[in-house]
Amino acid sequence: MLDKLERLPADSILGLAAIAKADANPNKVDLTVGVYMNEDGVCPVFKAVKMAQAALQQEEVSKSYLPPAGVDAFNDGMQQLLFGAGHPALRDGRVSSVQAPGGCGALRIGAEIIFAAAPTAKVWVSDPTWPVHLPLLGSVGLEFETYRYYEPVSHGVNFDGMVEDLKRAQTGDVVLLHGCCHNPCGADLSLEQWGVVADMAEAQGFVPFVDIAYQGLGDGLEEDAAGLRLLAERVPEMIIAASCSKNMGLYRERTGAVMFVCQNRANAEALVSQALVAARRVYSMPPAHGALIAGRILSDQALDEIWRTELMDMCGRMNGLRTGLREKLEAASSRDFAFIEKEKGMFSFLGLSTKQAIRLREEYSVYMLDSSRINVAGVNARNIDYLAQSVASVL
Ligand code: LMR
Repeated sequence: MLDKLERLPADSILGLAAIAKADANPNKVDLTVGVYMNEDGVCPVFKAVKMAQAALQQEEVSKSYLPPAGVDAFNDGMQQLLFGAGHPALRDGRVSSVQAPGGCGALRIGAEIIFAAAPTAKVWVSDPTWPVHLPLLGSVGLEFETYRYYEPVSHGVNFDGMVEDLKRAQTGDVVLLHGCCHNPCGADLSLEQWGVVADMAEAQGFVPFVDIAYQGLGDGLEEDAAGLRLLAERVPEMIIAASCSKNMGLYRERTGAVMFVCQNRANAEALVSQALVAARRVYSMPPAHGALIAGRILSDQALDEIWRTELMDMCGRMNGLRTGLREKLEAASSRDFAFIEKEKGMFSFLGLSTKQAIRLREEYSVYMLDSSRINVAGVNARNIDYLAQSVASVL
């Protein structure tokens, strides 16, 4: 039976990261997977995380299972972080959440819930979107429609195209939106544009599903959640998948949450029971370590402040790298790279062809995705000149 199964191609992101890792060229530049790297090319552990971890280690008395919904301090802290204290949806008890194994686990539970509620619902995804959205949501049985999003000439959002396409979304369809720091293109909606999406959701009855994996890496924790908060004030129902992989650097700890904004408190509670049944059939209960750390940080004022400062520094460094990269690329190529500075978060499309991206990989050991998506955080003072020269030479 098993011998019928063939070897599959490696994942388009993780497979390339493995090839980059194995490259022995001392000048190699790895801009593949979306992981924050510091100036030394290391993905660091946040100081606040180390402190929370040390305290937890002292206190730990058991490795028994977590309750199925996860760590209370984490779920409460994440709601406050996403919605902001005093948000009307929180105040009215319309929000519920369940801890999940990373943003991926949250997306998967969200998909299970959608399928349970409306198996024929279409999920509208942006063109382009993070490639893993499709298997994560699609393997539940949901089908997709695509809406226009990125406009390669301006390197911005084709909002007119997006609106025109979403006019076809039906009542009960789901529209998947990137909460901030769009992956892969870095082009985000303005608050005014979020307002238009809210108008459309209200008028047409589609349900927004917001994937927010990069809160705090664009303009700041509050600013990056502004679109999501606006939607949650306006629409009767919404699903959210949140992650602490990037903003707390808890990647391998698989720390995420799925949230439901419902029409009333009873419905929000019902959704928890639905999510727990879905989780039980997929992975039973969530992992503890990351959520205990995150819950501790979010519920301890001193740790929370340390974490926020570290995150702000990280975000500031990435924005500085965007400026630096723009300047170096423009100097090396005499072309306009101003768009890099306007985008948000970790990613940018450099606007190269697949052929050029492959040439960079093969001839210069400069690794980016075939789409020319780069992880801006992989740039540093040591590799920025080599990167700019290499890109200029394939243009
Ligand atoms: C990425 O897009 O590189 C990250 O979100 C990591 C992943 O799992 O693909």
